[in-house]
Amino acid sequence: MPEGPTGAHLTLGIETSCDETAAAVVADGQRVLADVVASQAELFRRFGGVVPEIASRHHLELLLPAVTAALERSGVRLEAVDAVAVTQGPGLVGALLVGVCTAKTLAWALDVPLVGVHHVLAHIYANFLPEAPALPAVCLVVSGGHTDLVVLDAAERLTVLGRTRDDAAGEAFDKLAREMGLGYPGGAALERLARGGDPAAVPLPRAWLGQDSADFSFSGLKTAALTALRRGAPSADLAAGFQAAAVEVLVEKTVRAARRLGVGQVLLAGGVSANGALREAMARAAAREGLGLSFPPVRLCTDNAAMVACAGYRRLERGERAGWDLNAVADLELT
Ligand code: KG4
Ligand code: ZN
Repeated sequence: MPEGPTGAHLTLGIETSCDETAAAVVADGQRVLADVVASQAELFRRFGGVVPEIASRHHLELLLPAVTAALERSGVRLEAVDAVAVTQGPGLVGALLVGVCTAKTLAWALDVPLVGVHHVLAHIYANFLPEAPALPAVCLVVSGGHTDLVVLDAAERLTVLGRTRDDAAGEAFDKLAREMGLGYPGGAALERLARGGDPAAVPLPRAWLGQDSADFSFSGLKTAALTALRRGAPSADLAAGFQAAAVEVLVEKTVRAARRLGVGQVLLAGGVSANGALREAMARAAAREGLGLSFPPVRLCTDNAAMVACAGYRRLERGERAGWDLNAVADLELT
């Protein structure tokens, strides 16, 4: 990859798919020089969820300051940037447009390559910072908007094995947490509450969807948990039972897929992969099955732009490059 005068290839990453405005500078696709995340989560707490138009307006205000801060913290001048990578989708279209338009403008003004990145792919590449994991790998991407099981082969091509048929795992965590008065997004608060509970006290269903299915379903679990809440189930026990049910299905389906395909490495990604119970259960299952396991540091599990820069760099290395007609796509397919 052509490099600037600093000797390293510098990718500016931009992420605005939901309610995090993020900019990062990554050297040679692996060293994070700066990673700035301006979260709007506090703002949306009182609404109990993201309001798309408000999110877009905030991205507009916050993005250039985030880019400026990322450049300052990394000690990189704007003119030294070698490429710009941006989340193209999926996500809230107005929010994505702010990132895409800003990235295009910067890349055009700097006369450097532009690359559009799928948000789920970016989450997976959080596992490549600072070093690439062994490939091929089965990757479980669990976030507020996605629950996907995919394989990344040695050439970094992606095949989707399964996905959720209804709620994303994080969405189910957030909906239960909201009903329990834990605020938004409530995944981390639900995990904290679950620590004091008995996971076996409130029996909850697991959706296996057949022995070999790599698809997921969390709406039945969510509804059963909400019903138990209304019937007065103790909140810590309910949180623990819900988390145990979600984690068991996520772990088992991932491990089964790896076994079925003869793949020796598992990667966790996305906001829900910050969950300690999921990490521990996956680590136990991986040890039992003799699988390698990688998950990003908590900071890189939730939305950030370092993962976008890393994914973009690796796509540029493979010769991908977006045209000036790059557009935001709310329901971008994972390919
Ligand atoms: O990846 P992310 O920042 O945004 C999306 O792409 O959706 O993920 C956010 C999701 C939220 O649903 C949040 O509740 C969940 O990740 N999350 C957690 C934890 N930390 C964040 N869920 C369970 N346990 C956690 N510790
Ligand atoms: Zn995300």
